[in-house]
Amino acid sequence: MIGQLNHVAIVVPDLAAAAAFYAEALGASVSAPHDLPEHGVTTVFVELPNTKIELLHPLGADSPIAGFLAKNPAGGMHHVCYEVEDIIAACDHLVASGVRVLGDGEPKTGAHGKPVLFLHPKDGLGTLIELEQA
Ligand code: CO
Repeated sequence: MIGQLNHVAIVVPDLAAAAAFYAEALGASVSAPHDLPEHGVTTVFVELPNTKIELLHPLGADSPIAGFLAKNPAGGMHHVCYEVEDIIAACDHLVASGVRVLGDGEPKTGAHGKPVLFLHPKDGLGTLIELEQA
């Protein structure tokens, strides 16, 4: 059911320092920062040949990643995102398999303007998993 790894998201306390680390120490191609107020994050995209790394920093008072950064002040890996062809079919299959979908169980529009779902980390081997319709 899942296809390509779309991205790995890493929450960072200092977005400029994180972007500089990926650009200079790791020699990667790095975007300018993008504010996504509706998602409560500022992102920098690191483009790799086969996938992306998303560096995330909280934006605004109600950021969904503020708590993560409070618990992990040095930052850390936040989630992995796999592509699916049909997010409704994927959701139905997961629910039938006993996997909890976060929120109200309906796909939302994600950071790339495509439908996404998040799966409960306790059902995902301790990892927050995002599914994005490709
Ligand atoms: Co994501």
